[in-house]
Amino acid sequence: MELLIYPRYEEMSAVAARQIADLINAKPDAVLGLATGSTPLGVYRELVRMHLEEGLDFSEVRTFNLDEYVGLGPQDRQSYHCFMHEHLFQHVNLTPRNTHIPSGTTRNYPAFCAWYERRIEDCGGIDLQILGIGGDGHIAFNEPGSSLASRTRLKTLARETIEDNARFFDRKEDVPIYAITMGVGTILEARHCLLLASGTSKAHPIAQAVEGPVTAMCTASALQLHPHVTVYLDEAAAGALVSHEHHRWIAANRPNAPRTDTWWQNTVDAVEYAGDTGVHQR
Ligand code: PGA
Repeated sequence: MELLIYPRYEEMSAVAARQIADLINAKPDAVLGLATGSTPLGVYRELVRMHLEEGLDFSEVRTFNLDEYVGLGPQDRQSYHCFMHEHLFQHVNLTPRNTHIPSGTTRNYPAFCAWYERRIEDCGGIDLQILGIGGDGHIAFNEPGSSLASRTRLKTLARETIEDNARFFDRKEDVPIYAITMGVGTILEARHCLLLASGTSKAHPIAQAVEGPVTAMCTASALQLHPHVTVYLDEAAAGALVSHEHHRWIAANRPNAPRTDTWWQNTVDAVEYAGDTGVHQR
Protein backbone atom coordinates (compact mmCIF):
# COMPACT_ATOMS: atom_id res chain seq x y z
CA MET A 1 0.00 0.00 0.00
CA GLU A 2 1.49 3.33 -1.02
CA LEU A 3 0.38 6.45 0.87
CA LEU A 4 0.78 9.84 -0.74
CA ILE A 5 0.05 12.86 1.45
CA TYR A 6 -0.49 16.31 -0.07
CA PRO A 7 -0.96 19.67 1.62
CA ARG A 8 -4.24 20.38 -0.15
CA TYR A 9 -7.19 18.60 -1.75
CA GLU A 10 -6.59 20.27 -5.14
CA GLU A 11 -3.02 19.00 -5.34
CA MET A 12 -4.01 15.49 -4.29
CA SER A 13 -6.79 15.44 -6.90
CA ALA A 14 -4.49 16.69 -9.67
CA VAL A 15 -1.88 13.99 -9.03
CA ALA A 16 -4.51 11.24 -8.83
CA ALA A 17 -6.08 12.48 -12.09
CA ARG A 18 -2.66 12.45 -13.76
CA GLN A 19 -2.24 8.82 -12.77
CA ILE A 20 -5.60 8.00 -14.39
CA ALA A 21 -4.70 9.98 -17.51
CA ASP A 22 -1.38 8.14 -17.79
CA LEU A 23 -3.27 4.85 -17.77
CA ILE A 24 -5.72 6.04 -20.47
CA ASN A 25 -2.85 7.28 -22.63
CA ALA A 26 -1.04 3.95 -22.27
CA LYS A 27 -4.19 1.86 -22.68
CA PRO A 28 -6.91 3.76 -24.55
CA ASP A 29 -9.58 1.10 -23.82
CA ALA A 30 -8.77 0.97 -20.09
CA VAL A 31 -11.52 -0.16 -17.75
CA LEU A 32 -12.07 2.39 -14.98
CA GLY A 33 -14.02 1.81 -11.78
CA LEU A 34 -15.70 5.09 -10.80
CA ALA A 35 -16.89 6.43 -7.47
CA THR A 36 -19.37 9.15 -6.52
CA GLY A 37 -19.55 11.47 -3.49
CA SER A 38 -17.71 14.70 -2.77
CA THR A 39 -14.19 13.27 -2.71
CA PRO A 40 -13.62 12.37 -6.39
CA LEU A 41 -15.06 15.68 -7.67
CA GLY A 42 -11.59 17.27 -7.88
CA VAL A 43 -10.31 14.29 -9.90
CA TYR A 44 -13.26 14.52 -12.31
CA ARG A 45 -12.76 18.28 -12.72
CA GLU A 46 -9.10 17.67 -13.56
CA LEU A 47 -9.92 14.86 -16.03
CA VAL A 48 -12.41 17.16 -17.78
CA ARG A 49 -9.73 19.86 -17.95
CA MET A 50 -7.24 17.39 -19.44
CA HIS A 51 -9.83 16.31 -22.01
CA LEU A 52 -10.55 19.91 -23.05
CA GLU A 53 -7.02 21.29 -22.90
CA GLU A 54 -4.79 18.29 -23.59
CA GLY A 55 -7.06 16.13 -25.73
CA LEU A 56 -7.26 13.26 -23.22
CA ASP A 57 -9.32 10.77 -25.20
CA PHE A 58 -12.06 8.74 -23.47
CA SER A 59 -13.63 7.36 -26.65
CA GLU A 60 -12.59 3.76 -26.00
CA VAL A 61 -12.50 3.86 -22.19
CA ARG A 62 -14.97 1.57 -20.41
CA THR A 63 -16.35 2.55 -16.99
CA PHE A 64 -18.14 0.78 -14.14
CA ASN A 65 -19.58 2.69 -11.21
CA LEU A 66 -19.48 1.25 -7.73
CA ASP A 67 -23.05 1.75 -6.65
CA GLU A 68 -26.51 3.32 -6.96
CA TYR A 69 -29.44 4.02 -4.63
CA VAL A 70 -32.33 1.62 -4.91
CA GLY A 71 -35.47 3.39 -6.06
CA LEU A 72 -33.77 6.27 -7.88
CA GLY A 73 -33.89 6.34 -11.68
CA PRO A 74 -31.33 7.98 -13.98
CA GLN A 75 -33.40 11.19 -14.09
CA ASP A 76 -33.51 11.60 -10.31
CA ARG A 77 -31.30 14.49 -9.28
CA GLN A 78 -29.73 12.56 -6.39
CA SER A 79 -29.08 9.39 -8.38
CA TYR A 80 -25.51 8.43 -9.14
CA HIS A 81 -26.49 8.22 -12.82
CA CYS A 82 -27.27 11.92 -12.65
CA PHE A 83 -24.10 12.65 -10.63
CA MET A 84 -21.86 10.98 -13.21
CA HIS A 85 -23.57 12.74 -16.09
CA GLU A 86 -23.27 16.13 -14.38
CA HIS A 87 -19.66 15.84 -13.21
CA LEU A 88 -17.96 13.73 -15.89
CA PHE A 89 -19.90 12.04 -18.67
CA GLN A 90 -21.39 15.14 -20.32
CA HIS A 91 -18.00 16.87 -20.42
CA VAL A 92 -15.83 14.17 -22.02
CA ASN A 93 -16.06 11.92 -25.07
CA LEU A 94 -16.96 8.68 -23.31
CA THR A 95 -19.07 6.42 -25.52
CA PRO A 96 -22.40 6.00 -23.66
CA ARG A 97 -22.59 2.25 -24.26
CA ASN A 98 -19.17 1.89 -22.61
CA THR A 99 -20.40 3.37 -19.31
CA HIS A 100 -22.04 1.17 -16.69
CA ILE A 101 -23.82 2.18 -13.50
CA PRO A 102 -25.79 -0.27 -11.36
CA SER A 103 -29.53 0.08 -11.86
CA GLY A 104 -31.55 1.43 -8.96
CA THR A 105 -34.81 0.52 -10.65
CA THR A 106 -34.35 -2.96 -12.11
CA ARG A 107 -37.19 -5.38 -11.42
CA ASN A 108 -34.78 -8.25 -10.89
CA TYR A 109 -31.87 -7.32 -8.65
CA PRO A 110 -30.20 -10.76 -8.42
CA ALA A 111 -30.18 -11.08 -12.22
CA PHE A 112 -28.91 -7.52 -12.66
CA CYS A 113 -26.13 -8.03 -10.09
CA ALA A 114 -25.02 -11.25 -11.79
CA TRP A 115 -25.03 -9.47 -15.18
CA TYR A 116 -22.97 -6.57 -13.79
CA GLU A 117 -20.31 -8.96 -12.49
CA ARG A 118 -20.25 -10.82 -15.83
CA ARG A 119 -19.99 -7.59 -17.77
CA ILE A 120 -16.93 -6.48 -15.75
CA GLU A 121 -15.34 -9.85 -16.48
CA ASP A 122 -16.24 -9.67 -20.21
CA CYS A 123 -14.47 -6.29 -20.40
CA GLY A 124 -11.31 -7.90 -19.02
CA GLY A 125 -11.69 -6.73 -15.41
CA ILE A 126 -11.19 -3.30 -13.89
CA ASP A 127 -7.75 -1.78 -14.50
CA LEU A 128 -8.05 1.06 -12.03
CA GLN A 129 -10.68 1.50 -9.35
CA ILE A 130 -11.31 4.91 -7.76
CA LEU A 131 -12.58 4.68 -4.18
CA GLY A 132 -13.72 7.05 -1.47
CA ILE A 133 -14.15 6.04 2.16
CA GLY A 134 -17.22 6.50 4.35
CA GLY A 135 -17.21 7.82 7.89
CA ASP A 136 -17.86 4.23 8.97
CA GLY A 137 -14.92 2.92 6.92
CA HIS A 138 -17.01 1.65 4.01
CA ILE A 139 -15.84 1.35 0.41
CA ALA A 140 -18.68 1.62 -2.11
CA PHE A 141 -21.76 0.84 0.02
CA ASN A 142 -20.12 -2.10 1.79
CA GLU A 143 -21.22 -1.14 5.26
CA PRO A 144 -19.66 -2.52 8.47
CA GLY A 145 -20.29 -6.24 8.67
CA SER A 146 -20.15 -6.78 4.90
CA SER A 147 -18.38 -9.94 3.86
CA LEU A 148 -14.88 -9.22 2.60
CA ALA A 149 -15.63 -11.74 -0.17
CA SER A 150 -18.93 -10.07 -1.17
CA ARG A 151 -20.00 -9.49 -4.78
CA THR A 152 -22.40 -7.00 -6.37
CA ARG A 153 -25.65 -7.13 -4.39
CA LEU A 154 -28.26 -5.17 -2.44
CA LYS A 155 -27.22 -3.63 0.87
CA THR A 156 -29.04 -1.81 3.63
CA LEU A 157 -27.32 1.51 4.32
CA ALA A 158 -25.97 2.16 7.80
CA ARG A 159 -27.57 4.99 9.80
CA GLU A 160 -24.26 6.90 9.72
CA THR A 161 -24.18 6.74 5.91
CA ILE A 162 -27.77 7.94 5.65
CA GLU A 163 -26.91 10.87 7.92
CA ASP A 164 -23.68 11.64 6.01
CA ASN A 165 -25.46 11.59 2.66
CA ALA A 166 -28.54 13.54 3.80
CA ARG A 167 -26.71 16.71 2.68
CA PHE A 168 -27.41 15.75 -0.94
CA PHE A 169 -31.19 15.42 -0.35
CA ASP A 170 -33.89 17.92 0.61
CA ARG A 171 -34.78 15.90 3.72
CA LYS A 172 -33.06 13.10 5.59
CA GLU A 173 -36.21 10.99 5.13
CA ASP A 174 -35.63 11.13 1.37
CA VAL A 175 -32.30 9.25 1.54
CA PRO A 176 -32.93 5.72 0.24
CA ILE A 177 -32.32 2.94 2.76
CA TYR A 178 -31.11 0.38 0.21
CA ALA A 179 -28.39 0.47 -2.40
CA ILE A 180 -26.99 -1.82 -5.07
CA THR A 181 -23.23 -2.01 -4.70
CA MET A 182 -20.18 -3.82 -5.97
CA GLY A 183 -18.89 -6.14 -3.26
CA VAL A 184 -15.57 -5.98 -1.45
CA GLY A 185 -14.54 -9.11 -3.36
CA THR A 186 -15.44 -7.40 -6.66
CA ILE A 187 -13.35 -4.35 -5.75
CA LEU A 188 -10.36 -6.42 -4.65
CA GLU A 189 -10.17 -7.92 -8.16
CA ALA A 190 -9.36 -4.53 -9.72
CA ARG A 191 -5.72 -4.43 -10.81
CA HIS A 192 -5.02 -1.13 -9.07
CA CYS A 193 -7.08 0.66 -6.42
CA LEU A 194 -6.88 4.41 -5.76
CA LEU A 195 -8.32 5.33 -2.37
CA LEU A 196 -8.96 9.06 -1.97
CA ALA A 197 -9.74 10.87 1.27
CA SER A 198 -9.89 14.51 2.25
CA GLY A 199 -10.72 16.40 5.44
CA THR A 200 -10.66 15.74 9.17
CA SER A 201 -13.87 13.66 9.08
CA LYS A 202 -11.88 11.00 7.18
CA ALA A 203 -8.85 10.94 9.51
CA HIS A 204 -10.22 8.25 11.81
CA PRO A 205 -11.60 5.90 9.10
CA ILE A 206 -8.34 6.24 7.16
CA ALA A 207 -6.25 5.37 10.22
CA GLN A 208 -8.48 2.33 10.80
CA ALA A 209 -8.31 1.25 7.17
CA VAL A 210 -4.54 1.65 6.83
CA GLU A 211 -3.23 0.83 10.30
CA GLY A 212 -6.03 -1.12 11.95
CA PRO A 213 -6.78 -4.82 11.67
CA VAL A 214 -8.34 -6.21 8.49
CA THR A 215 -11.95 -6.42 9.54
CA ALA A 216 -15.42 -6.48 8.05
CA MET A 217 -16.25 -3.68 10.50
CA CYS A 218 -14.13 -1.33 8.33
CA THR A 219 -14.40 -2.69 4.82
CA ALA A 220 -11.70 -0.30 3.49
CA SER A 221 -9.23 -2.28 5.63
CA ALA A 222 -9.63 -5.15 3.12
CA LEU A 223 -7.42 -3.06 0.81
CA GLN A 224 -4.47 -4.16 2.97
CA LEU A 225 -4.88 -7.53 1.25
CA HIS A 226 -4.60 -6.02 -2.23
CA PRO A 227 -1.19 -6.03 -3.94
CA HIS A 228 -1.51 -2.60 -5.58
CA VAL A 229 -3.23 0.22 -3.69
CA THR A 230 -2.36 3.91 -3.79
CA VAL A 231 -3.90 6.05 -1.04
CA TYR A 232 -4.15 9.76 -1.82
CA LEU A 233 -4.67 11.93 1.26
CA ASP A 234 -4.64 15.57 2.13
CA GLU A 235 -2.99 16.55 5.42
CA ALA A 236 -6.30 16.64 7.29
CA ALA A 237 -7.26 13.09 6.26
CA ALA A 238 -3.77 11.87 7.21
CA GLY A 239 -4.01 13.54 10.63
CA ALA A 240 -4.72 10.42 12.72
CA LEU A 241 -2.08 8.16 11.15
CA VAL A 242 0.51 6.94 13.65
CA SER A 243 2.74 6.14 10.66
CA HIS A 244 2.49 9.67 9.20
CA GLU A 245 6.24 10.34 9.56
CA HIS A 246 7.12 6.91 8.18
CA HIS A 247 5.19 7.63 4.97
CA ARG A 248 6.85 11.04 4.64
CA TRP A 249 10.25 9.35 4.96
CA ILE A 250 9.36 6.81 2.27
CA ALA A 251 8.09 9.53 -0.08
CA ALA A 252 11.24 11.62 0.43
CA ASN A 253 13.45 8.61 -0.27
CA ARG A 254 11.86 7.17 -3.37
CA PRO A 255 14.47 6.17 -5.96
CA ASN A 256 13.49 9.15 -8.16
CA ALA A 257 13.38 11.65 -5.26
CA PRO A 258 16.29 14.13 -4.90
CA ARG A 259 19.04 12.38 -2.91
CA THR A 260 20.96 13.79 0.03
CA ASP A 261 23.31 10.81 0.43
CA THR A 262 24.47 7.85 -1.60
CA TRP A 263 23.48 4.77 0.38
CA TRP A 264 20.28 4.29 -1.59
CA GLN A 265 22.08 4.50 -4.91
CA ASN A 266 24.55 1.89 -3.67
CA THR A 267 21.66 -0.34 -2.65
CA VAL A 268 19.96 0.04 -6.05
CA ASP A 269 23.23 -0.79 -7.81
CA ALA A 270 23.68 -3.88 -5.64
CA VAL A 271 20.14 -5.09 -6.35
CA GLU A 272 20.47 -4.44 -10.07
CA TYR A 273 23.79 -6.22 -10.23
CA ALA A 274 22.47 -9.17 -8.23
CA GLY A 275 19.45 -9.18 -10.58
CA ASP A 276 21.78 -10.19 -13.42
CA THR A 277 22.61 -13.35 -11.55
CA GLY A 278 19.06 -13.88 -10.38
CA VAL A 279 20.11 -13.40 -6.75
CA HIS A 280 18.90 -10.42 -4.72
CA GLN A 281 21.52 -9.39 -2.20
CA ARG A 282 21.67 -6.41 0.09
P1 PGA B 1 -17.71 11.38 0.25
O1 PGA B 1 -18.25 9.89 0.43
O2 PGA B 1 -16.72 11.34 -0.84
O3 PGA B 1 -18.93 12.18 -0.11
O4 PGA B 1 -17.13 11.79 1.56
C1 PGA B 1 -17.36 8.82 0.41
C2 PGA B 1 -18.09 7.53 0.68
O5 PGA B 1 -19.08 7.54 1.43
O6 PGA B 1 -17.66 6.49 0.17
